[in-house]
Amino acid sequence: MAEPLLRVEDLTVSFPSRQGQGDVVRSISFDVGAEIVALVGESGSGKSLTGRAIMGLLPPRAKTAATSLSFAGNDLTRLDAAQWRALRGSAIALILQDPKYSLNPSMRVGRQVEETLLLHTRLSARQRREKALAMLSRVGFDDPQRVHASYPRQLSGGMGQRAMIAAMLINRPSLLIADEATSALDHDLQLQILELLGSLTRELGMGLLLISHDLQQIARFADRVLVMRRGIIVDRLAAGELANAEHPHTRALWNARPSGATYGTRLPVVADGEEA
Ligand SMILES: Nc1ncnc2c1ncn2[C@@H]1O[C@H](COP(=O)(O)OP(=O)(O)OP(=O)(O)O)[C@@H](O)[C@H]1O
Ligand SMILES: [Mg+2]
Repeated sequence: MAEPLLRVEDLTVSFPSRQGQGDVVRSISFDVGAEIVALVGESGSGKSLTGRAIMGLLPPRAKTAATSLSFAGNDLTRLDAAQWRALRGSAIALILQDPKYSLNPSMRVGRQVEETLLLHTRLSARQRREKALAMLSRVGFDDPQRVHASYPRQLSGGMGQRAMIAAMLINRPSLLIADEATSALDHDLQLQILELLGSLTRELGMGLLLISHDLQQIARFADRVLVMRRGIIVDRLAAGELANAEHPHTRALWNARPSGATYGTRLPVVADGEEA
């Protein structure tokens, strides 16, 4: 078999605490190829830290260990700061939960969407602008010119999130990690953005690691599903099997899937007793 895009082998993330090392991600292993892999699990199970570890963006106190963490054959554990910068935003991109922390409030949206092109390509200002406008319309803006000239505070949360997605996809990364990228959006917009991410993933032969709490959406959009609990991957299955999952924890999550009324909220922590 060909080398997968991303290979994670025995990844552990821990925070030193008074009681010694507190492992919050415990020796997990998985691959991502040109496909959509969903990482699901209750709040606090370690999904975001897994995504951040792959991006080399963990909080300063966090410690990681891995037998292997490789991207397109590159050993991610050995990159220096300059190599990380070259990789991030061009080959691997991360979309975060909250656009408030991702968009710079004092910079026009268009400039931010063009940022990776500026850093990683030799396109002219005019070519960058054309690409940015095209990408802004792809993520659903019917007035890309206006959005391009706006500051983040002039956009709603949903618009900000779409601008972020445009910024992350504009340089066509080979791997995109989307951490609850659509949670802040209303239901219709979530489906629209997921459809967009899904079609771009397939069109560009990209890998997508989709971190989500919404198993119903995952069932529709992902190829494979990894279920995390307390830092461990407890179940792996095809997305199409979610509705008939055998693992009790996966079933509990499926049954706790958000309804229209609870959209945007996190998955509750599933009590042990509820899984029986
Ligand atoms: N900076 C930190 N210092 C100490 N512990 C942390 C820190 N960040 C996260 N943790 C702990 O690590 C665990 C996993 O956190 P993580 O953010 O990966 O969860 P998650 O699965 O993404 O949850 P959610 O669905 O709520 O986003 C949590 O229990 C959390 O308490
Ligand atoms: Mg998270």
